[in-house]
Amino acid sequence: MTSRAGMREYPVALEPVGKGNRAAILALELLPQQQGFVASNAESLAEARQDDEAIARAVVAAGRVVGFLMYSAPEDDDEAIIYRLMIDRREQGKGLGSAAVAKLLEEIARLGRIRRVSICYEPENEAARRLYAGFGFVERGLDEDGEMIADLELGG
Ligand SMILES: CC(C)(COP(=O)(O)OP(=O)(O)OC[C@H]1O[C@@H](n2cnc3c(N)ncnc32)[C@H](O)[C@@H]1OP(=O)(O)O)[C@@H](O)C(=O)NCCC(=O)NCCS
Repeated sequence: MTSRAGMREYPVALEPVGKGNRAAILALELLPQQQGFVASNAESLAEARQDDEAIARAVVAAGRVVGFLMYSAPEDDDEAIIYRLMIDRREQGKGLGSAAVAKLLEEIARLGRIRRVSICYEPENEAARRLYAGFGFVERGLDEDGEMIADLELGG
């Protein structure tokens, strides 16, 4: 992979959530030690139904659902927030998380109005730290819940 943030083809697609992929998203699993890092996909899909600003996506590789993510990019704001990202335990460590973030950053950049993307993760979540740092996200410190906030300025 050359420049992660550059425009190129990644081995994943981000697809809207619907009848055709909902069951596959619910069947995705984390490793036991990761379960405190992110809400379950069942909770996230329920949240997405209630939150008009939440945009949920299946991460699809070679025609199979391998992960899930959720973000918001309100029309009256220049900041997008990544709420959730997970890759199935059997599919981790193959570059799919990075590919999903690259695709998501492209999707967000195409909106044209977003200047900053932010993310929160548990400070002990080394995979998340490395993943986001690889795209240039800068850690800003802990929020009131003890989660690390990191953000990325777009188009700077
Ligand atoms: C974080 C997560 C999405 C990464 O997905 P992935 O497909 O395994 O990631 P990739 O293979 O693309 O690797 C991305 C980077 O993370 C690093 N990484 C992946 N798993 C790791 C682990 N267990 N420990 C340390 N680093 C790890 C990789 O080395 C890579 O960094 P590098 O480019 O500097 O080598 C996945 O581990 C996951 O679903 N975790 C549980 C949910 C979670 O924590 N989500 C993030 C919170 S919002």
